[in-house]
Amino acid sequence: MTTFSETFANTADFKTVLTDKTGEAFVREGFDATWGKVNVSDRPDLADFQCNGALAVAKQAKANPREVATKITAHLTGDTAIKSLEIAGPGFLNFVLSDSALSDRANALSADERLGAPVVETKRKVIIDYGGPNVAKPMHVGHLRTAVIGESLKRIMRFMGDEVIGDAHFGDWGYQMGLLITAVSDEQPDLPYFDETFDGEYPVHSPVLLSDLERLYPFASNKGKENAEYRDRARKATRELQDGRKGYRALWQHFVDVSKTSLKEDYRILGVEFDLWNGESDADPFVAPMIEELKAKGLLETDQGAEIIRVAREDDKAEIPPLLVVSSEGSAMYGTTDLATIKQRREEECPDLILYAVDQRQSNHFTQVFRAAYLAGYASEGQLEHIANGTVNGTDGKPFKTREGGVLKLGDLLAQANSAASVRLHEAGLGKGLSDEDFNKTTWQIAVSAIKFAELSNHRLTNYVFDLDRFMVFEGKTGPYLMYQAVRMKSILRKAVEQGVSAGEIIVTEAAERELVLLLDGFEAALKETYLKRAPNILADHVYRLAQTFSKFYAACPVLIADTDAQKSSRLALVKLTLAQLEKGLDLMGLTAPEVM
Ligand code: ARG
Repeated sequence: MTTFSETFANTADFKTVLTDKTGEAFVREGFDATWGKVNVSDRPDLADFQCNGALAVAKQAKANPREVATKITAHLTGDTAIKSLEIAGPGFLNFVLSDSALSDRANALSADERLGAPVVETKRKVIIDYGGPNVAKPMHVGHLRTAVIGESLKRIMRFMGDEVIGDAHFGDWGYQMGLLITAVSDEQPDLPYFDETFDGEYPVHSPVLLSDLERLYPFASNKGKENAEYRDRARKATRELQDGRKGYRALWQHFVDVSKTSLKEDYRILGVEFDLWNGESDADPFVAPMIEELKAKGLLETDQGAEIIRVAREDDKAEIPPLLVVSSEGSAMYGTTDLATIKQRREEECPDLILYAVDQRQSNHFTQVFRAAYLAGYASEGQLEHIANGTVNGTDGKPFKTREGGVLKLGDLLAQANSAASVRLHEAGLGKGLSDEDFNKTTWQIAVSAIKFAELSNHRLTNYVFDLDRFMVFEGKTGPYLMYQAVRMKSILRKAVEQGVSAGEIIVTEAAERELVLLLDGFEAALKETYLKRAPNILADHVYRLAQTFSKFYAACPVLIADTDAQKSSRLALVKLTLAQLEKGLDLMGLTAPEVM
């Protein structure tokens, strides 16, 4: 495995172009090019872009900042892309771009099949471990975050050129399985799975339904906490399962199949697709050789009958406890499977990077596992990253619960969102001309957009309040708003076809057109930052602002009833480009807009 620095090719946005030009001007004045860094202006009423380098360099060179700024501007006059370049305040450079530069950029973006998106300079092989569903545990609102964030990161990194594998890392191993086996054996002791002398074929049909597992798991889990004897039985069953006891393996396979079917249905509705459904159990064959290897490397230490790896470092601020590799009962633990999975991934996929989109409450766990992996040589520093997320709260500010105080299953939550979407559409007088089938498809698209966009518009570490009513409105920073704006654009394009108007060269003249093109140009920077920070909320923000700016543009600049044919074609081309970028952005968030509404 090798590590790469994360840089991008295909960069052509205004920020990059102006930074290059300004950097060159600084060089001609004997300064370092890095002072020429240009950013989007924080005063869009005054300028499109700004550079603060003259101020900083003057301070260092003990020169007058306005004088430095004046010399820099002198090198940039005569550039037709720049309409005006002014020195503001103590020495800021304020750039306003010319209409022709904006027109050229818009036409270039229209011609670019990537719509201005950069690609990574060096393609990497990335595994994203996300979703993390478990046998017998129905998903709830907490599982949304890892699924939605992981799916989006997968799509973004893939679009930017990496080879990305999404792995569900199914929780199908460990003590929970022992608990379930124990619970089933108490309820249905006569099943052949528990008879060690049985050597026939085990039944094809599962002796338990999903509802049984959902009932048995919390029951057994509580009983294991209260009752030491029960806990010991469950631990013994866990070890025997892991050691390959035939009946247990066969029963366990039913647990896995029954759970997977239901989990896959939830993910399907959510538009979350994994390339791999590897389970924790799939790492099992790697565990024994790994333990031998860790022993040989002198990394394992016996501690009160358990085998551990010490991972604390001198400069740790908080204590990082050792990683428990083999419990005193001889079982592989959660950390053991994670470590073995890294070894497995290295042997099977040889990734350059593994991202774990998992709740931040597991951050100590990942610190332990990653350090152990580095010590063992299964990965090098920097190749393993925990992409942590915060919690989803209810409107009362506490972790989300149903009104009755219980946990709302994800499947039920999705169904609720779907009926809310249908109510909203009726209220808004939308969807009238749709067939029942299309109406149903649309309500799902709206419902999923509401939930996913609410998730993605927050930074992943932010705790947010799950408030379906707020997520579901057509006005505001919501998924349905994005859907609605996309549908408006699609309707303009359809009408244009009817009226025989076709898209042509983009000629920017109006303020609202300028604003829209500047935003379209910002796709590149938004994607770069999203990628580097593993933060899809940056992309979500871009997509939202694009929809908003389009709406402003459309109010100010009529398209099909514009004054001249050239204007109609130009604005139609802008709508087409905006829709294409919007839909790309939606797709990268795992969303699809309806055709009509
Ligand atoms: N199944 C785990 C849970 O529910 C999450 C798995 C996350 N991925 C991992 N490689 N540990 O907590």
